[in-house]
Amino acid sequence: MRKHIVAGNWKMNNDLPSTQALISDLKSKEITSDAEVMIAPTFTNLFHGVEALKDSPIEVIAQNMHYAASGAYTGEVNADMLKSIAVNTVILGHSERRAYYNETDDSLAKKVDTVLEKGMRTIFCFGEELQDRKDGNHFSVVESQIKNGLFHLDGAAWSSIVLAYEPVWAIGTGETASPEQAQEMHAFIRTTIADTYGNDIADNVSILYGGSVKPANAQEIFSKPDVDGGLIGGAALNADDFFAIVNAF
Ligand code: 13P
Repeated sequence: MRKHIVAGNWKMNNDLPSTQALISDLKSKEITSDAEVMIAPTFTNLFHGVEALKDSPIEVIAQNMHYAASGAYTGEVNADMLKSIAVNTVILGHSERRAYYNETDDSLAKKVDTVLEKGMRTIFCFGEELQDRKDGNHFSVVESQIKNGLFHLDGAAWSSIVLAYEPVWAIGTGETASPEQAQEMHAFIRTTIADTYGNDIADNVSILYGGSVKPANAQEIFSKPDVDGGLIGGAALNADDFFAIVNAF
């Protein structure tokens, strides 16, 4: 059966001292739910995170990586670099990367291929913009993002894929999709996967919701049958808030 997952995407926040302080706060907390817990610090603090959380169930993951094996890509980080510091999971396709760094369905499909080649796992993000929803195009936008990024994969690959539906209009805005809107989209995503890959694979994929998840709304969102956890931005930067969400299952 699919897993519950709560992942904190720290984005471009926390230098080394703040990372050390937040990780030490996180280590003092207890996971009382069945959720797998992950944090994604910036590249410069990944190694510290892995070392500091060696004996903890919290997994340290990356926010991005390049698809190429190595080479002349100034400023980029490859899969082997992540694996060499025991980072085996990477967030791909976050809307901020799609919007500000020109990440396209095509480049993301290549990154996903690299993840699989390297035996890693990805949290693959997608979601519609406000205008798409206003125009009633949210289902077709999400369908094309997941089909273009992932539907070239074979069935076996899906055990390495976690999905994160993050409506762009709900990210960092304080405006959350209602639990019903999240459930409706997550059910649509699962059906879309089932139509191509069958029910077994669709039922086993964890689909996270992201966008202004807070301690106050996490429980209601997570209570929906097709919502298997959350990708948390702002609230992941505070250990009390993050753990209130982790333990909201
Ligand atoms: P917020 O929780 O700050 O809205 O961010 C969500 C997000 O983008 C997680 O990847």
